[in-house]
Amino acid sequence: MAVTVVVGAQWGDEAKGKIVDFLASDADYVVRYGGGNNAGHTVWLKDQEFKFHTVPCGLLHPHATAVIGDGVAVDPINLAQELDIVAAKGIDSSNLRIGSRCHLILRYHTMIDELEESRRGSSPLGTTKRGIGPTYADKAARSGLRMEDLVDPLRFRARLEKSLEQKNAILKHLYGHAPIALESMLDIYEPLGRRFRDQTIDVPARLLDAVRSGKRIIMEGAQGTLLDIDYGAYPFVTSSHPIAAGACLGTGIGPRHLKRIIGVAKAYTTRVGEGPFATELKDSTGERIRDQGQEYGTTTGRPRRCGWLDLPMLKYSAEINTMTELAITRLDVLSGIDPLKACIEHGSNGPVYIELEGWKDDLRGIRSREALPDAAQRYLSIIEERTGVPVSIVSVGPERSETIVS
Ligand code: GDP
Ligand code: IMO
Ligand code: MG
Repeated sequence: MAVTVVVGAQWGDEAKGKIVDFLASDADYVVRYGGGNNAGHTVWLKDQEFKFHTVPCGLLHPHATAVIGDGVAVDPINLAQELDIVAAKGIDSSNLRIGSRCHLILRYHTMIDELEESRRGSSPLGTTKRGIGPTYADKAARSGLRMEDLVDPLRFRARLEKSLEQKNAILKHLYGHAPIALESMLDIYEPLGRRFRDQTIDVPARLLDAVRSGKRIIMEGAQGTLLDIDYGAYPFVTSSHPIAAGACLGTGIGPRHLKRIIGVAKAYTTRVGEGPFATELKDSTGERIRDQGQEYGTTTGRPRRCGWLDLPMLKYSAEINTMTELAITRLDVLSGIDPLKACIEHGSNGPVYIELEGWKDDLRGIRSREALPDAAQRYLSIIEERTGVPVSIVSVGPERSETIVS
């Protein structure tokens, strides 16, 4: 049993990409299990920044096979662009595999996502406008198109024609938008079907084989627990299952195969998009965290909302995911903020905080937990006490080496 799940413990952007990359040095497979190109996973490699959206970070490890699991919604145009960008940086993607059951994000999905956000007027969801909601809606309605359709030209044409009848009616009558012509879509998608045909696989078959032969598999989560469609703060959520159980759904690997479940959490809290955020700081401290942490969205560039660490939320996340351990990231960002606060309870009058001593030191050069300032060590201990989960990894900078294993 060697399946490790890396799951976002908060509202996304916890630095899952960095943690997956750190762990992938001895992995045989790195598998994205859900979400789509709403995700933005950043990895720094030798002073080069990589931003992954649909492709697993494992692509940077030539010995590993990178797999886009069946639970991922794939925008073929965007995937091709992403692969062209990494190719220009010298990264080979011939060992990337794509699930045959992945639902396709097609042009009308992104259009409808955008049109629907404007139709929500003064109360939008703040989506990334990547077509995620409409694509998963089609999946649940059993009218979506999948990778297996894209790579089969006759089937793709027939299914797209049928789907367009419905989408064009929606575009015209609900949004007053011009219809999309079938041929214009085929011109774009047919070459992409040819491009990805040989990389499309039966994911459960391949991964079960790998599990049986003792291969090491990392499941790369996208988004975060509080964005889960069922267990997040509905309706301000995404349309997939970021939680650890989603790793089973998105790959066909059953729960008993999962061994390590690593929840990734920032040392504070951020959120992009709309929705409740109890510990949000709308003052100069919030701005300071945003400045020191350069908290701007990897996918959309939007400023991230920043706030104190929410320990009851982390405890919830630990339980929902059955975390075996926590990776606390961006601890370096809190240097110089003194005192620090952490929410320990959500009372009827709002969050209840404890005040904690801060530290001034730059943490980026530190490589052991004992070498951290006492106040930073206490901060980590409080997280462990309040969540009941050991902190096994601490990240003190974006680079692979800026990592403490404890
Ligand atoms: P993901 O979506 O969870 O993979 O996270 P993102 O890549 O969207 O955002 C995390 C950001 O934090 C990226 O810009 C990373 O390069 C950066 N990062 C990762 N770990 C650390 C850390 O420990 N300290 C600092 N300062 N930045 C980090
Ligand atoms: P990674 O994998 C942070 C948020 C959006 C919005 C809500 C719904 O990089 O952590 P959607 O486009 O999914 O319909 O938007 O979910 N969201 C994310 N926030 N990180 C992400 O991914 C996100 N993916 C979606 O901002 O609030
Ligand atoms: Mg991100």
